[in-house]
Amino acid sequence: MVMHRNMGPFDTTAIGQGEMPLTIENNLGWDTGIETIHAALDAGCRHIDTAWAYYCSGGEEQTGEKLVREAMDSWKGPREEVLVATKVGHFRNFTDGKPTWDVDGRPENLIRRGKESAQALGVDTIDLLYFHRPDPKVPYAESVEAIKQLVDEGVARTAGVSNASIAQIDIARSVLGDSLVAVQNQFSPIYTETIDTLRHCAETGLAFVCWSPLGGYRKPKDETKFDPFRSVAETHSVSYQQVVLAWELALGDHVFVIPGAHRPQTICDSLKAGDLVLAPEELAMLNAACGIR
Ligand SMILES: NC(=O)c1ccc[n+]([C@@H]2O[C@H](COP(=O)([O-])OP(=O)(O)OC[C@H]3O[C@@H](n4cnc5c(N)ncnc54)[C@H](OP(=O)(O)O)[C@@H]3O)[C@@H](O)[C@H]2O)c1
Repeated sequence: MVMHRNMGPFDTTAIGQGEMPLTIENNLGWDTGIETIHAALDAGCRHIDTAWAYYCSGGEEQTGEKLVREAMDSWKGPREEVLVATKVGHFRNFTDGKPTWDVDGRPENLIRRGKESAQALGVDTIDLLYFHRPDPKVPYAESVEAIKQLVDEGVARTAGVSNASIAQIDIARSVLGDSLVAVQNQFSPIYTETIDTLRHCAETGLAFVCWSPLGGYRKPKDETKFDPFRSVAETHSVSYQQVVLAWELALGDHVFVIPGAHRPQTICDSLKAGDLVLAPEELAMLNAACGIR
């Protein structure tokens, strides 16, 4: 069984599936997307992470949410066990002809997009709705108030914030109160700057969800950061990705990971990371290698 943890009112899997690679640029097509989500669910995954903005720049909006809906509708397993999280506040654009991610944190647009997310997912109430990324043109509290309105109206059951600093997490706590259950920030061996927010979440009773927990779907600039994980992986005869995820989960009982995958094999391998027990000296070595004290 995939490791379970509590997130707000949910009992879900500590390892979720990051849906993004299935519907942004370089995806392997709709059918492979459905197959990959089904493989994850069949393997016991009970947490899927998508977003309003997971579509190709210039393409049909919300394809990630639509893919998740079709996968859930066509899955034969217990739908009610699965936590589906989505996010609003980003949209796709082009800069100099290249696909980019833009922000729009205006309250009226967050409210409109939150309702569109529920519709695309085919639910009355979204399990967990994140504010995707701060918009420097909009005071943070105003954006978070819009998420609160969506919770108050029953469009979302619980709320989260993403790409948030400690100060922003605290604003969200004061606006959202107990509705705020999770913070989703980038965290991996190649990105540990957010360790302060991971610790703040532990102190304030919030889940911390690591995005791009394996360093992202692009080849990292510095591959050597993964060498210590490779050496531990050899000892355990597992992939180094499992070691990375197990190390992250060992940073606290409030930590969740949402590895992305383009295909069934990789997500199914990642889901086994909850079974991997790393020795205290292995964890200490990996922490030291990543500058975590
Ligand atoms: N909140 C935010 O602002 C934000 C930003 C970025 C991402 N996210 C979320 O975080 C999720 C994960 O991030 P990500 O997809 O960028 O990167 P990631 O999870 O760090 O890495 C994904 C890549 O790792 C590979 N992989 C995964 N498991 C593997 C395994 N067990 N063995 C070998 N390779 C493995 C995949 O390979 P294959 O391609 O071969 O399958 C994929 O290319 C996204 O899907 C999204 O839900 C959120």
